[in-house]
Amino acid sequence: RSRVLSGIQPTSNSFHLGNYLGAVRQWVDLQDDFDAFYFIPDMHAITVSYEPKELRERTRRSVAQLLAVGVDPERATIYVQSHVPEIAQLTWVLSCITGFGEASRMTQFKDKSARQGTDAAGVGLFTYPILMAADILAFEIDRVPVGEDQRQHLELTRDLAQRFNTRFGATFTVPQPHIVKEFAKIYDLQNPTAKMSKSAASDSGLINLLDEPKRSAKKIRSAVTDTGRAIIFDPVEKPGVSNLLTIQAALRGVQVDELVSAYAGKGYGDLKVDTAEVLTEFVTPLRGRVAELTEDPGYIDSILAAGAERARGVAAATLATVYDRVGFLAPA
Ligand code: TYM
Repeated sequence: RSRVLSGIQPTSNSFHLGNYLGAVRQWVDLQDDFDAFYFIPDMHAITVSYEPKELRERTRRSVAQLLAVGVDPERATIYVQSHVPEIAQLTWVLSCITGFGEASRMTQFKDKSARQGTDAAGVGLFTYPILMAADILAFEIDRVPVGEDQRQHLELTRDLAQRFNTRFGATFTVPQPHIVKEFAKIYDLQNPTAKMSKSAASDSGLINLLDEPKRSAKKIRSAVTDTGRAIIFDPVEKPGVSNLLTIQAALRGVQVDELVSAYAGKGYGDLKVDTAEVLTEFVTPLRGRVAELTEDPGYIDSILAAGAERARGVAAATLATVYDRVGFLAPA
């Protein structure tokens, strides 16, 4: 069976709507037809400033959110990155075939290091994409469901896989990004030409799935819309309206076109009120499920233990091949 893999960082108390619509929702769909590997990259999370105690809580809470949205531990292998040490071991080998200039061109590194000040930024932030390549290449992955902002990292991963294969012989599967165009970039509600992100200057354009629904509904009702009155899908002329249409269509499972026809003759106010309502209906049961799941850390830990065992089995086999190909002497 073909394999998919993806990860979501435990850097916040809640997934946001961009994480869900751009990526995690696809994870749920793909687990039916693929051998799925879904994980929490806690090692990536320590590349920026953080609190150890929070990290541990957020790691479990991220798993609870995955389960709550429908990731199924019976079908998908769910694990925490640091529980699979072979990933870090593979990172070293890959870092030795990555160009310094190549790594310097990663736009996410440039953005994040600029935000922290280049001196404050750690080397881990710089090598982050190489760790991400190891996440994927350790498991013979065919497709990686992510949002648009991860595309460049996926290209690096493909380049490294091909470079290794050329230099040392066919070893790695070269993965394809799985990016669903309509939902690959959900925008900030207050600044609808920038992606929705938890690191935005203000959080008034950010919808956290686990926030109080009233608070999120209010944010949607206060979303920036555009000049004019007609509700049409036009991301260039009407980025705010188009973003709300995308969000509502995604949550209701209908096409944007259908939605646009239904809004003929109606105003922006209607679009906002309805979108707020659809969101409330979606997050209310979700919050309940996450609350229940976080009360049972033992259950989550048991899923993670099983996931780590399966993941380690696969990654250890890849690593053994890699160590052999690069010429390491096998321990006697
Ligand atoms: P992270 O944790 O920042 O985000 C998780 C997923 O959410 C997507 N995403 C969005 N999609 C649409 N619109 C948005 N506004 C939006 N914001 C975030 C991201 O593209 C991502 O798919 N480096 C990764 C985590 C990672 C990973 C991996 C992913 C580590 N190793 C291996 C895939 C494979 C990250 O920071 O995602």
